[in-house]
Amino acid sequence: MSEVAAPMIHLENVSRTFPARGEAEKVRALRKVSLDVPKGARVAIRGESGSGKSTLLNLVGGLDVPTKGEVVVGGQDLTALTDAELTRYRATAVGFIMQAFNLLPALSARENVELALEAANAPRSERRARADELLAAVGIAERAEHRPSRLSGGEQQRVAIARALANKPSVLLADEPTGNLDRKSRKAVVRLLREVSEKSGTTLLIVTHDPNTAAACDTVYRLHHGKFVGNPLVLDPTRRADDAREKEEAEDEADLPDDPDDDA
Ligand SMILES: Nc1ncnc2c1ncn2[C@@H]1O[C@H](COP(=O)(O)OP(=O)(O)O)[C@@H](O)[C@H]1O
Ligand SMILES: [Mg+2]
Repeated sequence: MSEVAAPMIHLENVSRTFPARGEAEKVRALRKVSLDVPKGARVAIRGESGSGKSTLLNLVGGLDVPTKGEVVVGGQDLTALTDAELTRYRATAVGFIMQAFNLLPALSARENVELALEAANAPRSERRARADELLAAVGIAERAEHRPSRLSGGEQQRVAIARALANKPSVLLADEPTGNLDRKSRKAVVRLLREVSEKSGTTLLIVTHDPNTAAACDTVYRLHHGKFVGNPLVLDPTRRADDAREKEEAEDEADLPDDPDDDA
């Protein structure tokens, strides 16, 4: 009998509806989405603005709860956790990387990383050395004393990646991680995300509208009006970026369903 390993991330029939406010109608941001991401896999979810990417990432990150369906990460059913357990989950099981870096402006690069270590109860005596190790691993050891305002966008995102890795999370979650970067920094950050995931065996989930950024991953899903469409793309490992762009162009010529209120 062969054992099939449980996926690191498991979504089953997940819907997230935001209630109507004032004149606005309720929004079905996700509509019965199912997804399995194996441990150590690198998966990108691509979709136009408003397709539900951040909503999905926030559910996996324990920042939000689904209206319906099941979200299981590392074998833990997130919908069954108490608030205190969810807080603990966010501080230790997942690392977040956001478009706007979200570093604390009054703290140095090192202190930003130390803060994440503190949140996960790492011993005080180890925090500084560990933060420096992490900054070295993302290639900015010499910037440890700088505040974010003294760092370029690419450098700030490196600090954010170091911070996300601080507690050796089993899952790295990135929301448009290159959205605020120029082309050169974007390439470097895409390479770094892939590298840290490969080195640490961390499962990587990126949501982005950008095929170049999706190319950090091996598999690309397409989200459209809150649902997955088409088959996941498996990128050619020898030319992921070119492959991602070409496949996106081919897909954009294909017809996408245009039925946001279809309940199916
Ligand atoms: N907190 C919220 N309240 C109401 N509507 C929301 C909220 N968050 C997201 N939405 C709506 O849900 C849909 C999906 O949003 P989002 O997941 O942010 O898309 P994406 O990240 O792909 O741009 C959009 O129509 C958005 O306006
Ligand atoms: Mg978004």
